[in-house]
Amino acid sequence: MNVADSAAIGEHLRSRGGVATDLAQQADLVIVNTCSVRGQAEHKALSYLGRLALIKVKQPAMKVVFAGCMAERVKESIKKRFPFINLVVGARDIEYFPQLLDKFLGDMLDDRSVLSAATPQLTSFINIMRGCENHCSYCIVPTVRGPEKSRAVDDILADIRRMAAAGTKEVTLLGQNVNSYTSAGRGKTIIDFSDLLQMVNGIDGIDRIRFMTNHPKDFNDKLIETMSSCAKVCDHIHLPLQSGSDTILAAMNRKYTAGDYLTLANKLKHAIPRLAITTDIMVGFPGETDADFAATLRIIEHTDFDFLYAFKYSPRPGTPAAAGEDSVIRSKKEERLAILLEQADSIAARKNAKLIGTHQEVLVEEVTANGIAGGRTRANKKIFFAGESNLRGTLVSITVTGSKAYSLEGSFTSCV
Ligand code: 5AD
Ligand code: SF4
Repeated sequence: MNVADSAAIGEHLRSRGGVATDLAQQADLVIVNTCSVRGQAEHKALSYLGRLALIKVKQPAMKVVFAGCMAERVKESIKKRFPFINLVVGARDIEYFPQLLDKFLGDMLDDRSVLSAATPQLTSFINIMRGCENHCSYCIVPTVRGPEKSRAVDDILADIRRMAAAGTKEVTLLGQNVNSYTSAGRGKTIIDFSDLLQMVNGIDGIDRIRFMTNHPKDFNDKLIETMSSCAKVCDHIHLPLQSGSDTILAAMNRKYTAGDYLTLANKLKHAIPRLAITTDIMVGFPGETDADFAATLRIIEHTDFDFLYAFKYSPRPGTPAAAGEDSVIRSKKEERLAILLEQADSIAARKNAKLIGTHQEVLVEEVTANGIAGGRTRANKKIFFAGESNLRGTLVSITVTGSKAYSLEGSFTSCV
């Protein structure tokens, strides 16, 4: 979501004549877009601000904007610690960021020559909703991003049509929990997420649709049917599990059991046999015993995951879980995380190896000067093969000839 927000603000600045640089030393304006989902993300932002402080001494005219979830959380205190910050834009105001920035910058950009728009993005993100009301007991998102708000369906469709006209082939619909999307349609109809997917599926020029993230408690049969019947919806679902222990899931306020999750995963696989399922798992949630962790390992064994992202529990200020003790000691968290990371690697390697010899539809995203083409399969696996630059942006069929844990190799078979 932050990548999408940053891209949108970058595009806005570019449209006003801004020129992007990778070096803060060259910048007139630096926007630090922050995450606060775990403590480590906040530490990174703080240490980056520390580095900016040194640059600011040499370049006092440089302007610094501090934005996003952490900005929302610490907006009262951050300027005391880093007085050189010129503007703070919290996550709840992020949709008004362009207007806030225009007001702040005044005519700073207007005397620059306007450059042409960025190269068309083959793959684009679009926010379909903001905020979250699920209140998982560990999570800071409902506090920093506020209550759930779905965007109007017509606005989303208009944005995607515009993206398609500008060259986008693959669109990823974003929300903290897209499964609870709801918007008023024409007349008195209510558009839910499945309806939205069907509408996006009908947009000319868009070849592929992805979406994230999902909540197992809201993933219904209608959505499974929609996924299997809409040809452009890709064969990948990110379905955060968090834990395989019913006790921990209840303490997390996730509102499903490990059994519910397994049933859903099996249903999905049955309806869409090529589907890749990826997940998020947290270790060291307060009270997590060895038996709870063993239950998590068991469900991983029984669910045919393609990849898992593993995190150490990080107490977030103001969340219900942080009110109690962070009871699992650090070494235990690290031990469990190491086991999961190893699992993630071996699952990824095993799943990729199984694809050798199969044909995969690939959207070609890049072709290097020496003729190496790269893209992703419908199941979101990175794949590389020998190809000409005119293949960029096209759908091709690739035969998988080799595999590593995090990418595939293949040879061009035909255009799709
Ligand atoms: N500590 C550790 N991981 C967290 N996540 C969310 N909140 C926390 C936290 N307090 C993880 C969850 C979520 C992913 C985006 O980040 O696994 O699915
Ligand atoms: Fe956080 Fe839960 Fe909402 Fe996801 S669903 S953003 S984990 S509160």
